[in-house]
Amino acid sequence: MENSTDISVKVSTLPRGVKRLDELRKYFIEEYGLEPEYFVKVPGRVNIIGEHVDYCGYPVLPMALEQNILVAVSVDKYTTKLQLANVNPKYKSFECDVNSFEIVIGEGSPEWYKYFLCGVKGVIEHSSSAEFQGMKVLVSGNIPPASGLSSSSALVSAATLTTSYANKLSLNKQRLAEISAKSEWYIGTQGGGMDQAIAFLAQEGCAQFIDWNPLTATPITLPENAVFVIANSLSQANKAATNDFNQRVVECRVGCSIIAKSQGLLWKKFIKFATLQKELDISLDQLHDLANNILKKDNYTLSDIVSILQIEDNEFQETFLSSNTKDMQAFNLRNRALHVLQESIRVQKFCDLCRSSGSIADLSVLMRQSHLSLNVQYECSHPKLNELVGISDKFGVGARLTGAGWGGCIVALCESKEHSQKFIQELKEKYYKKLPESELNFENVVFATSPQSGAEIFAN
Ligand code: GLA
Repeated sequence: MENSTDISVKVSTLPRGVKRLDELRKYFIEEYGLEPEYFVKVPGRVNIIGEHVDYCGYPVLPMALEQNILVAVSVDKYTTKLQLANVNPKYKSFECDVNSFEIVIGEGSPEWYKYFLCGVKGVIEHSSSAEFQGMKVLVSGNIPPASGLSSSSALVSAATLTTSYANKLSLNKQRLAEISAKSEWYIGTQGGGMDQAIAFLAQEGCAQFIDWNPLTATPITLPENAVFVIANSLSQANKAATNDFNQRVVECRVGCSIIAKSQGLLWKKFIKFATLQKELDISLDQLHDLANNILKKDNYTLSDIVSILQIEDNEFQETFLSSNTKDMQAFNLRNRALHVLQESIRVQKFCDLCRSSGSIADLSVLMRQSHLSLNVQYECSHPKLNELVGISDKFGVGARLTGAGWGGCIVALCESKEHSQKFIQELKEKYYKKLPESELNFENVVFATSPQSGAEIFAN
């Protein structure tokens, strides 16, 4: 299997007869009165295991979905106007000068086009070119929003790819993934890079073991009969609309710094557990035991932390907090650290089992443990996700929340196609049937999926 990190995104001829592409082309002509020059496709993702560990420097195991963001583009050679439109009328059009715009983040969920602007800004800031070309852009997405399947990162990544291709910047997949990950920070959430990495580095037929520093993707072949089912709880969770996600990032960084200080290290250099583990030259298990011994069970207050780290309140603010976490008062450090370290051990075990043709029953145990830890120690589940996982459990299927949590989807591991069909039926009976009719479009909310390829460009 190829190592896909150092190669360019594939550019192929526009396939004919693909409904969504044909429709997008038609809408583009209606919207802008000319043919699009090229199309960009970026998939959503499901993370199989390794939740909330990427921003601590630990590997994850996602795969790309069939659902994706499609973008039709025409480069404007004579102006620097950036025009953004969406086929979904719910999402209003926007335009600005590509070389001078600001991304202003207010309360609640950011408008859709701001995610696109993040990607444009990211490319501009990482390039030495002074002038960028205007673009006419039309977006079509079928990844359910705010459902933990990475619709926002796919949009940011699509914008990065669209902009770099329009301006003839030759960026490889790894660079595009890194720029996209940093770009999404402009929206306010401090994600770890998993979503953007899989968006570019995914390969059809296998999940990817994504590691950091440097970014690498190693294909992992999943057990032959295994079928992954995604079930949407229909409780939406937009991680940019609350500070839940960023709070967890802060708790992990502070916990890591406190352990580093306890070991006589310059704590400011250690905000990721993986970096600390490397410096201490110990195993994940040993770091886990250290975290268990050093960090206290009860919440830390702000004054506890500044006194342990021997810093002033304002230095603490500057080092650890962002605009939406600046008022945090209570920090649950031990539980968060234990989750991250246990989950990272599970990722290793999961991959070892896949490599050694381990059983689906053993993999399912890891999925269940992951969910329990996310629910109890990381407190990022939701009653509806727990309900779905409970139904799965009773049916003998290992399942866990996927993505950031606080709503969104579960991913469940079935042992065969037949088993997955029965399981989907069970979820319909036990979970979806009692929901209001209007919300039900079964095919979009509960479906089996298999690993798809990463970002692509289609040129005319
Ligand atoms: C979001 C972030 C990712 C990752 C997951 C949780 O999707 O964007 O970087 O942290 O949550 O695993």
